[in-house]
Parts: sequence; structure tokens; C-alpha cells
Amino acid sequence: MLWLVFLTFPCVGASIPMTPDPRPGRELAGIIGGCPVSAWRFPWQVSLRFYSRRSQRWEHICGGSLIHPQWVLTTAHCVDPQELEACTFRVQVGQLRLYEDDRLTKVAQIIRHPKYNESLSAPGGGDIALLRLEAPVALSERVHPVSLPEASLRVSQGKTCWVTGWGDIRIGEPLPQPFHLQEVEVKVRSDRYCQQAYRHTFRPEHAGQLTKGDVLCAGSQNRGPCLGDSGGPLVCKWNCTWVQVGVVSWGNVCGHCALPGIYTRVMSYVSWIHHYVPQFPAPSPVGSS
Ligand SMILES: *[C@@H]1O[C@H](CO)[C@@H](O)[C@H](O)[C@H]1NC(C)=O
Ligand SMILES: *[C@@H]1O[C@H](CO)[C@@H](O)[C@H](O)[C@H]1NC(C)=O
Repeated sequence: MLWLVFLTFPCVGASIPMTPDPRPGRELAGIIGGCPVSAWRFPWQVSLRFYSRRSQRWEHICGGSLIHPQWVLTTAHCVDPQELEACTFRVQVGQLRLYEDDRLTKVAQIIRHPKYNESLSAPGGGDIALLRLEAPVALSERVHPVSLPEASLRVSQGKTCWVTGWGDIRIGEPLPQPFHLQEVEVKVRSDRYCQQAYRHTFRPEHAGQLTKGDVLCAGSQNRGPCLGDSGGPLVCKWNCTWVQVGVVSWGNVCGHCALPGIYTRVMSYVSWIHHYVPQFPAPSPVGSS
């Protein structure tokens, strides 16, 4: 059974099976590996919010990353359905513990990738979206954009990268209070490895997805994203710089906790991103810190 690594909001996200794994001693993938993020290691992490009438607050629904002082990168499925306007979302930057001293920023515009097909959702591809904020956020050591890769960047198999989020720590087990941002180290897998891992679980309409080169596969048993982590960044370090190479998109548990997570491959979409989002920092000669 296909399981999407996301939970948007009750009207569309309610059909996700969340039965606990009956086998003892085998935890399912989540942001587990269970390390709270120390200090301001990932200052680009944002929380995407949607208003819940039931709890009467802006609930966390997805992750995202700041890629420019006025732009957030997330997945298209996090802002489903298309009819939802920008004003129904908010973004929280610079927070380690969810809901602690919320200072939400309004979203002025949502740009969903044209290739994204809502009825196929994340596994259909093009699962990427840009959110333009109402105004640039103030940068600090807690709030800072992440670097985007060159389109030509190759992430080698076995490269160690990091994924962060406030999603479930096990299937059906939400992150407990005080909702401290979690990080986990994952290894990037070859496309071949993922095709093998997923060959028995794909529905036919998703079958070609892993060979199109617009997703990246990473993770291992007990390590990776879970519900509520969608839209969050997968970052790796090169030359002392963190670069976002993936966006948490979906995954499959169906009893195989070893199946790696599937990320939208940022390198495949950087030219689309820069069609809307100015380079940050601005290219020289203007460039400065
Ligand atoms: C989206 O996918 C569905 C199911 O495969 C298909 O019927 C539909 O035509 C697709 N929509 C677009 C706009 O491509
Ligand atoms: C890291 O630096 C080396 C040497 O300057 C360069 O060849 C390489 O492309 C850089 N890697 C990335 C990902 O920027």
C-alpha cells in the first residue's frame, strides 16, 4: 500500500493508513534517530501552517526551506488543492520548537510546478512549489536562506546528508511536546537501488517516476522523514557550505521499513526556481554576505 509522507489538512489528508507496526523492536521510518536540532544549525527550516478551526490555531502541516529572504521552497502536495489561495497559509521562520512564540508571516503567492498533477499527488512528479512571502523576513543567525545547487551538481551515492522536520517520530506517533525540530542523517542512494527497493510497491501510474531523474532517493532503515516532514529540506555539505539537494516528497512503508524516502531533486528544478526567485546572495559584483 502506498503511503505518502505528508499530511496536509483533514479534508484531503485523512486517508493515510497509520496502523502501528506490529513487529516488536522494529521502528518505522520517521524523523527518528531522534536528535533534537542544536542551536541554529538549520536556520532555513520553516514550518508551513494552515488554520485549524478545531484547535483554533495555525497548525503545522509541512516543512519548507527559506531559499531567499522572501521565498520558501516546499512541495506542491503541501499546498493542495489548487483552489486554495495563498492567504490560507502562513509560514513560521526561525523556530526550533513549534508554536513557541509564533510570529507568522503571510504568504502572498503560491507557484506550483506545472508538471504536478493533483490527482497523482507526490508520486506523479513535479512535487515542488514556491511560496512568495508578503515581505522579506529579517535575517539573523536563526533565519537564513540555504544555498541552492547548480543544475549540474551530481550527488554521489553514499553521500551523507541531513533531513529535518517536525513530523511524526514513528508511524502514527506525533512529535511530542515541546515539538523540538528533529534532524537525521541519511545516505543518498543510487536510482538503481531505489528502483529495486520500490519495484514491488509501485502502482503502474507511478512506475516511471524513479527513472525520470527528477527525484532523489535517500535513507535507510529507521532513518528518514515521516508524516508532517513533507516539503522540508534534504541538505548536504560541500566545501563547508550546506546545499539543499532534495525536498521531502513521499515514501512507502507498507511493512518494509527499509524503503528509502523519495525527495524532489532540486537540481532538476533550479532553473524553474530561478525563473521566479532571484539569486541569493545576489551575484557579484553586488554580492556580499
Ligand atoms: C492527471 O492524472 C490523471 C490520472 O492519471 C489523468 O487522468 C489526468 O489527465 C492528469 N491530468 C493532467 C492535467 O495531466
Ligand atoms: C568544491 O570545491 C572544489 C574545488 O574548488 C570544486 O571543484 C567543487 O566543484 C566544489 N563543489 C561544490 C559542490 O561546489
